[in-house]
Amino acid sequence: MSKKIKLGVLISGRGSNLQSIIDASKAGNIDAEVVVVISDKKDAQGLESARVNNIDTIFINPKEYKKREEYDRKVVEELKKYKVALVLLAGFMRIVTSALIEPFRDRIMNIHPALLPSFPGINAQRQAIEYGVKFSGCTVHFVEEGMDEGPIIIQAVVPVSDNDTAESLSKRILKYEHKIYPMAVQFFAEGRLKVEGRRVAVSGDGAYHLGEGILINPYLNRR
Ligand code: GRF
Repeated sequence: MSKKIKLGVLISGRGSNLQSIIDASKAGNIDAEVVVVISDKKDAQGLESARVNNIDTIFINPKEYKKREEYDRKVVEELKKYKVALVLLAGFMRIVTSALIEPFRDRIMNIHPALLPSFPGINAQRQAIEYGVKFSGCTVHFVEEGMDEGPIIIQAVVPVSDNDTAESLSKRILKYEHKIYPMAVQFFAEGRLKVEGRRVAVSGDGAYHLGEGILINPYLNRR
């Protein structure tokens, strides 16, 4: 296996995506390891998952910084101490500024529980239900300035059923979040991602399964 790249993960809450990355790393499914977890919430549940896995955790209190940029500069300082190669936003509930994006351009990813550019922002799953879409899903993208903005790396499509609630849809989507985030990290670790304007080219074997990519929902199974 090639050398592991160092990941810094930013969280605000539950940390199930963080956990999926830790699990993938421990299982040897990704050539990457989480070296530091940073939170803007002191009691974020994900900090506990990091600690039980002997990963360093840092709480950076937003109240101690007047401007978003100052906060982000502190985050960058910590990430650099740990020689982080790739930053993962995983349920980090703050808008990040150029102070964080610029030093890590094309090296910060975010995961969002919808098929961007549909339903950015909070409660994406509820937005999808209320709009009445037949498919939603999840997206991993490189982070640019703006809410849930930036070149898309990978998406998973998840069907919505008539009796779905925001909760049931969230649960179905989350399962795929936990699959595609580690995949995106591995693409990065293998040097397979190339950002070309808005598009991210993914090179190499196994990157594409276009033949299986057609999805119909609802599906009428008769001629
Ligand atoms: C996930 O649904 C993620 O897509 C969104 O925030 C949620 C975080 O969940 N950005 P968790 O903390 O990873 O469990």
